[in-house]
Amino acid sequence: MNTVRRFDFLIIGSGIAGLTFALKVAQYGKVAIVTKKEDAESNTNYAQGGIASAVSENDSFSLHIKDTLLTGAGICHKDAVEVTVKEGPQYIKELEEFGTRFTKVGRGKNRKFQLGKEGGHSANRIVHAKDLTGREVERALLSKVRNNKNIKIFSNHIAIELLTEHNIKRKRRKKDNKIHCWGAYILDTKKKVVEIFLGKLTMLSTGGTGQVYLHTTNPDIATGDGVAMAYRAGGKIANLEFMQFHPTTLYSPGNKPFLISEAVRGAGGILKNSEGKDFVKDYDPRGSLAPRDVVARAIDRELKKSGAHCVYLDLSGIKKEDIKKNFPHIYKTCLSYKIDITKERIPVVPSAHYMCGGVVTDLRGRTSIERLYASGEVACTGLHGANRLASNSLLEALVFSNRAARDVAQQIKNIPDEFPEILPWDDSGTFNHEEWILISHDKAEIQRLMWDYVGIVRSDFRLRRAERRIKLVAKEVEKFYKKTKVTEQLLELRNLSTVAELLIRFALKRKESRGLHYTTDFPEKNDKKWKKDIIICKKV
Ligand code: FAD
Ligand code: SIN
Repeated sequence: MNTVRRFDFLIIGSGIAGLTFALKVAQYGKVAIVTKKEDAESNTNYAQGGIASAVSENDSFSLHIKDTLLTGAGICHKDAVEVTVKEGPQYIKELEEFGTRFTKVGRGKNRKFQLGKEGGHSANRIVHAKDLTGREVERALLSKVRNNKNIKIFSNHIAIELLTEHNIKRKRRKKDNKIHCWGAYILDTKKKVVEIFLGKLTMLSTGGTGQVYLHTTNPDIATGDGVAMAYRAGGKIANLEFMQFHPTTLYSPGNKPFLISEAVRGAGGILKNSEGKDFVKDYDPRGSLAPRDVVARAIDRELKKSGAHCVYLDLSGIKKEDIKKNFPHIYKTCLSYKIDITKERIPVVPSAHYMCGGVVTDLRGRTSIERLYASGEVACTGLHGANRLASNSLLEALVFSNRAARDVAQQIKNIPDEFPEILPWDDSGTFNHEEWILISHDKAEIQRLMWDYVGIVRSDFRLRRAERRIKLVAKEVEKFYKKTKVTEQLLELRNLSTVAELLIRFALKRKESRGLHYTTDFPEKNDKKWKKDIIICKKV
């Protein structure tokens, strides 16, 4: 029998979205946060540039809204953009109250945020903590959470599947045919046992999907688990074709990719080709600070044209002391790779960075599944449209986790205390296959095929090829999954294959080029047919 744990709130994920939500709902009941590694391990922890917010007197909400809409290439939801931009500043203030030490300039009354600039922004509006913003935010939030008696963190616990009508003893087909979520099956990866975590309300805050590609800025945790679980449970998923590639990760073959923040370009760094030419200007008058889709495509074209392995980020326009003072982490990390960025150009290439699509939510963070919220990178709130404006994602997580918590205040009293009887985790007929090589091979195959066929520039020919391959891999993975005792690696592989298959389906559906989705078969935007979200939902 599985251990059953009951909570008012089950939160899956301990990045900015999950922690923010936890802190706000703990006043209404007992909270469990399950997280698959150590609690700080998240995309949040690696965020560099900062949080976009119109907090300066030289900026305005309307400018931030305009920049977000322009970058989103016509399909942002205006209401989502407006609430995010307008509600953002109060939560930056609150993060400070929680102990986040943002970088400031001036003294006394004149002390204010040092605001950075990034691509697509028409003003300096990036609130940051040097070049380690995410680590500082995560530290502050975690320390608040650890001190809250109503919140318990379960590290090294990975969610396997959401508990819905499929997992209850007496199946009841609701009159309204709605799907409900009562929690999740969770694998304790240390003890190797599956437990049932019940939550009156569940928050999906599992972050991104970068690991579906061979080259990514994302840490290993970003395997799209939330999207895959919500899809399998019958939730609505939108816009997965819009994977954002960050233009500048350190080119260092054989090593883990390391991000060179866009803030470096905001401070004066210029992208150059091997001949020393500021080539991005040939593609867009904004040059190195054009939105990411434009810059990443320009680099991709430049590399294909020249056959070079990388382009270069030239920091000669930034004072040496400023580089060391404002980008200490990037400076030190590059130095450890024997590149002194105060003297040498940084070799860079694009890599997969941020998933703009995800589990569809409304403005309250509610998904299409009753009692299931989603926030952060896993969600598709409508804010980013076809391309995310830099540093809008930490902001989105703050705003939507707070919005969801406000909705909870209304909802929670109407939710009955009883849960339906949940079926125990069924692993009869499964074995401990010591087949690590199968998992690592399939993972590598998925990542390679996504990188080669579903990258920055796409075509129907390559997408179809990717579709045929991924179908085979996904089938094999599912077969293996059904006869094998679950492990973290196997669960992640299964989720990666689901997300890859879905991403290809979305990319094949969109017969136009918009924002981050560029295909040589339909190189133009087609507003008449495609100025809209694409939504896919599994019949369950
Ligand atoms: P995450 O912070 O990724 O947290 C997800 C959590 O879910 C993790 O704790 C993970 O372990 C857990 N999890 C996942 N699956 C499961 C499962 N099955 N069971 C249990 N737990 C699970 N955005 C900005 O706005 N500004 C920036 O400057 C910026 N810089 C970035 C730099 C880098 C290198 C990267 C990778 C991203 C950057 N981003 C930035 C994007 C931003 O960091 C993320 O979009 C954001 O942090 C996502 O927060 P989240 O809470 O949704 O997810
Ligand atoms: C960066 O610092 O370049 C990342 C910012 C972001 O992804 O929003």
